[in-house]
Amino acid sequence: MKRQPCRRAILAALATLAFGAPAHGEGDLVRGAQAARACMECHSFAPGRHMTGPSLAGVWGRKAGTAAGFARYSDALKRSGLVWDERHLDEWLTKPAAVVPGNAMDFPGIADSRTRADLLAYVKAVSSGRVSAPDRGLPNLKEADAASQVTAIRYCGDTYRLTTADGKTHAFWEFNLRFKTDGSAEGPPAGKPVLLGTGMRGDRAAVVFSRPEEISGFIRRQCA
Ligand code: HEC
Repeated sequence: MKRQPCRRAILAALATLAFGAPAHGEGDLVRGAQAARACMECHSFAPGRHMTGPSLAGVWGRKAGTAAGFARYSDALKRSGLVWDERHLDEWLTKPAAVVPGNAMDFPGIADSRTRADLLAYVKAVSSGRVSAPDRGLPNLKEADAASQVTAIRYCGDTYRLTTADGKTHAFWEFNLRFKTDGSAEGPPAGKPVLLGTGMRGDRAAVVFSRPEEISGFIRRQCA
């Protein structure tokens, strides 16, 4: 890893001038929680709740690439030998691709050192259990309401027609409906897929099944 202490010191001094606050020091938890929203698209802080990225529960002080049960680490991260202390997390969040070339986290980084300090304070507080993070991850699909419980799927022409447990039918152009699986503890019960809106405009959605084997058996080719 290349280190540029002089440049870093100058940048830190500039940051101090620009923001009127020390570049190092205790971050602000409220601002940190705000900044963490960008992470929650891909990470949860709930233990064992892996999404695109691994659960960040207990990440502080842990060896990189070792969250139990996360199966999609890049070889690059697993081989990095990093331990997630303050310095390494700060460098990672500045520019992940520079710290571990070839890693799988599709995130450009956070240039502002003050924002990183706030975020790190938050990650540390959540990781140690001092603050509990709202789980903005996926909803628990075992608790889906009748309006989202799919009871039948018919396919005709280019259209899927879904019936939900509240008796309503929903029509989707076949290209706008995705079939997904969630085999985790929060996934749907066996044989009871759940409808989730996935776009801003309501024309796109996903049906989440508990297992891939259920999908084609559930869909009937039927025009009526
Ligand atoms: C687009 C999805 C995405 C976003 C956004 C994202 N991450 Fe990640 N993150 C990942 C993935 C995927 C990995 C695994 C990388 C690998 O294996 O190379 C990862 C890995 C990590 C790791 C290493 C975990 C470990 O167990 O070694 C940390 C720490 C981390 N991310 C923190 C963050 C923080 C903090 C943010 C918000 C500023 C963030 N990530 C934003 C997808 C994302």
